[in-house]
Amino acid sequence: MDQRAGGRFFFHDDALSRLNEDAPLSDKLSAVHGFVRRHMPFVARIAVALYDPATDTVKTYAHSSDGENPLPFYEARLGTSNSLREIIDRGQPRVVNDTDLYGGETPHASRIRAGGFGSSYTLPIFRNGEFIGFLFFNAAEKDAFDPASLHFFDLLGHLLALLVIDGLATPKALLATVRTATGLAQHRDFETGAHLDRMAHYARIIAREIAPKYGLTDVDVEHIFLFAPLHDIGKIAIPDEILLKKGKLDAGEFEVMKTHTLKGHEIVEQMLANFSLDDSSHSSVLRNIALYHHEAMDGMGYPYGRKGEEIPIEARIAGVADVFDALTSKRPYKRAWSVDEAYQFLIENADTRFDRDCVAALVKHRADVERIQSKFAEDDVG
Ligand code: C2E
Ligand code: SIN
Ligand code: SIN
Ligand code: FE
Ligand code: FE
Repeated sequence: MDQRAGGRFFFHDDALSRLNEDAPLSDKLSAVHGFVRRHMPFVARIAVALYDPATDTVKTYAHSSDGENPLPFYEARLGTSNSLREIIDRGQPRVVNDTDLYGGETPHASRIRAGGFGSSYTLPIFRNGEFIGFLFFNAAEKDAFDPASLHFFDLLGHLLALLVIDGLATPKALLATVRTATGLAQHRDFETGAHLDRMAHYARIIAREIAPKYGLTDVDVEHIFLFAPLHDIGKIAIPDEILLKKGKLDAGEFEVMKTHTLKGHEIVEQMLANFSLDDSSHSSVLRNIALYHHEAMDGMGYPYGRKGEEIPIEARIAGVADVFDALTSKRPYKRAWSVDEAYQFLIENADTRFDRDCVAALVKHRADVERIQSKFAEDDVG
């Protein structure tokens, strides 16, 4: 400690200095969790769940938990959770000091109890009046959140909410830019917004299912969801007479078409540089999806002929999601296949072209796939 002026001027070790770093939200949550536990050792878990209006679901986005994550990939449909709905409507944090008091046997309530939590504090997060998600503090014991300490959790909760909002701003701005670019590109075909939405949701279904095996965090899953729609951004650079051709491409034309992966990579690099995101944790997911989504497990894909594990998992996920949606959509050069036909094609080509785990994940979640198909149905050609 610097002792100038008799201890009345000094530098102090800031317990939260990790927050200055460019680190993923889950690391920042861990730093805050460590700080909280020094004062309130009973706080066993801090979690952030984000709201997706398109599917009306709230999903865990990042968490810091003692030991094993007791509630991995928590997901609740708001429409079926009166207790969560009430928190949003009132716009106030809710304290439950005995989780046995959760009304009824809702899936939500039983998951909290199964997670071994006796009390919880839940803060709704709003930005300019728009509901974004929830912040949760959970304790193992009952009656952990006594009224005298609630101001501490209010303060901390709102600070964490700002971190969440700040952390979302850059990928959101990036995504908005890309959506705008793709929107412009749609005027010359090629993919509709519905294709991009479906494809992103398929990618998330796959990512979530294989996450434990591949060590993907909640944030990784969310980045795959956010960035999967950008896989074909390089098609912007493909000439009309090829991109919009009504029939089969000849060999020469297909060679040009294949360059959409390399063009996409260039565009992504440019965008990342413009957003000063070149080294951020989002950037490799975005790059890899654009560049490698047409690689094949047996090395017969393009642009580089990478094999198996050499192909980043996010690109294997996006590849399966893309082909499934391309097959089940009408294209100027083909009819729409049924789900059965598309599944059969993926299964027949598992291990040669497609990652077997990714295919199995999509097949396993057929009910979700069909819900997404009807939710994001095509107006016209897709
Ligand atoms: P896309 O339409 O988004 O298709 C993505 C991928 O889905 C294709 O990658 C291919 O793996 C699969 N796919 C799509 N339609 C079919 C199909 O009818 N049968 C089979 N077996 N697989 C299908 P691929 O082949 O690398 O093509 C990349 C992009 O090139 C396509 O993106 C599309 O924009 C364009 N393209 C490919 N073939 C043709 C074609 O015959 N005519 C035209 N106009 N464009 C084509
Ligand atoms: C979560 O922590 O992801 C949700 C649990 C809760 O409602 O407290
Ligand atoms: C998704 O993860 O995007 C889809 C989940 C669902 O609606 O079942
Ligand atoms: Fe592509
Ligand atoms: Fe596509």
